[in-house]
Amino acid sequence: MSSIKIQKICCIGAGYVGGPTMSVIADKCPDIQINIVDINKERINLWNSPDLNNLPIYEPGLDKIISRCRNKNLHFSTDIEKNIAKADMIFISVNTPTKTKGLGAGKASDLKWVESSARQIAKFAEGYTIIVEKSTLPIRTAETIKNILITSNQNKYKEKDSLQRFDILSNPEFLAEGSAINDLENPDRVLIGGENKKAINALKDIYLEWVDESKILSTNLWSSELSKLIANAFLAQRISSINTVSALCEQTGADISEVSLAIGSDKRIGKYFLEAGPGFGGSCFKKDILCLTYICQHYGLSQVSKYWEEVIEINNWQKKRITNLVIEKLFGTISQKKIAILGFSFKGNTNDTRESPAIDICKELLEEDCYLSIYDPKVSVKQISIDLEKPCTEPNKIINQAGKWSFSRSIMDASKNADAIIILTEWEEFKTIDWSQIAVNMRSPSWVFDTRSIADLNEAKSQGLNTWRVGNG
Ligand code: UDX
Ligand code: UDX
Repeated sequence: MSSIKIQKICCIGAGYVGGPTMSVIADKCPDIQINIVDINKERINLWNSPDLNNLPIYEPGLDKIISRCRNKNLHFSTDIEKNIAKADMIFISVNTPTKTKGLGAGKASDLKWVESSARQIAKFAEGYTIIVEKSTLPIRTAETIKNILITSNQNKYKEKDSLQRFDILSNPEFLAEGSAINDLENPDRVLIGGENKKAINALKDIYLEWVDESKILSTNLWSSELSKLIANAFLAQRISSINTVSALCEQTGADISEVSLAIGSDKRIGKYFLEAGPGFGGSCFKKDILCLTYICQHYGLSQVSKYWEEVIEINNWQKKRITNLVIEKLFGTISQKKIAILGFSFKGNTNDTRESPAIDICKELLEEDCYLSIYDPKVSVKQISIDLEKPCTEPNKIINQAGKWSFSRSIMDASKNADAIIILTEWEEFKTIDWSQIAVNMRSPSWVFDTRSIADLNEAKSQGLNTWRVGNG
């Protein structure tokens, strides 16, 4: 076989990973036709929406790429069969949530979508096809995919032919939401795990269109699959570590931002991922650590498993610690009080709320019978209702609204008559809040709790507000 030139790509899964990743590949490789398919018709319709404000995910810079490439070499559709059939390379970018029931419930990743994707590929793929695992997967999933591909009774080819017809690569995605386009355009590294050199090179050639060769690492399949889990576990561990230190700073008079700067200036430690906050969220960290602990237990490494479990325990503790602290500062009760929540997404610059610390914190506060007015520049009222498992209430009827919440369209609106403001996401606009206006808008004594160290609390204090910042002793 001579070198393989990819002309048609199919990506199964038009989510936070599949959408931006394929958009950047389409933008950088105009000669490749890319079809993103998804079983969710509503999502595909949004991707095809003429109004770019309606794209199903918010990601800075994504709209510009979509307007350049959509319907040229980037297509969104629900026609899975046809697009699998004509592809030379198929990316699997479906979700892999934590299993909610059965063996490994609460820890193991649920691979039913990956498995169904593999079955669809076995059934519809034509000719030689390279399968790329994009979703984060437990180590040795490629083996499962391969088994399905070659043994599926829906596969029209003989087992021997199937072995030659498919190659499987692992190419984990390291993009972070909110900076996905920049991360994809300027990756620290691209990781490709596989067995067949020609297949690896076919994928490598795609990245070489914009990524320097020195940044493209090729490894065996298992190292690649495991590296993604470990990268996320290490990042999450740093956040849990710095969050433990934030509590110590609050007790001792040290300041977490100064400590982060001081330790991060050591090259061996590095300055990134040292921002204390309300706890990490997002679709990956918790799920991937749970998956890692499950794998460790499977291999009898209970000590290793316990070590990583603690990263999640500390994350839960930090969320709870912040909730309790707010209650304590408000004289031990928040019943019938109004609290403004600024930011609901799990981090700034995204509308994604998966595992957002705001969900647990808001739920706990509502349990204490307060009234929440929630403002987030990008998260929809519908999404917040789903996450809090409670419908939104009319904002003007504050009396007897214990345990209810309303949706606000501005910071002013959210803070009107509020006893406290809690900043939970680092949205840019929270940096420049006009505290003189907010102070007269709130009910005294009023508090500002900044869990992201983003607001100008000196200014808030000078306007007579009580302030608290994470890790500020
Ligand atoms: C991510 C990553 O792919 C994974 O690595 C990470 O571990 C968690 O999920 P993401 O893009 O963030 O995926 O998930 P999501 O936004 O839920 O998108 C997945 C898409 O796949 C959904 O739109 C879903 O409808 C689609 N899907 C799922 C299919 O098209 N076919 C299926 O069989 C299952
Ligand atoms: C993460 C990984 O960074 C990315 O490489 C992987 O592909 C997917 O998972 P993501 O979850 O999108 O990306 O965002 P990330 O920037 O890692 O933030 C995760 C959570 O950690 C957020 O809730 C964020 O607010 C929090 N965080 C991050 C901190 O609390 N402090 C920090 O210093 C950094």
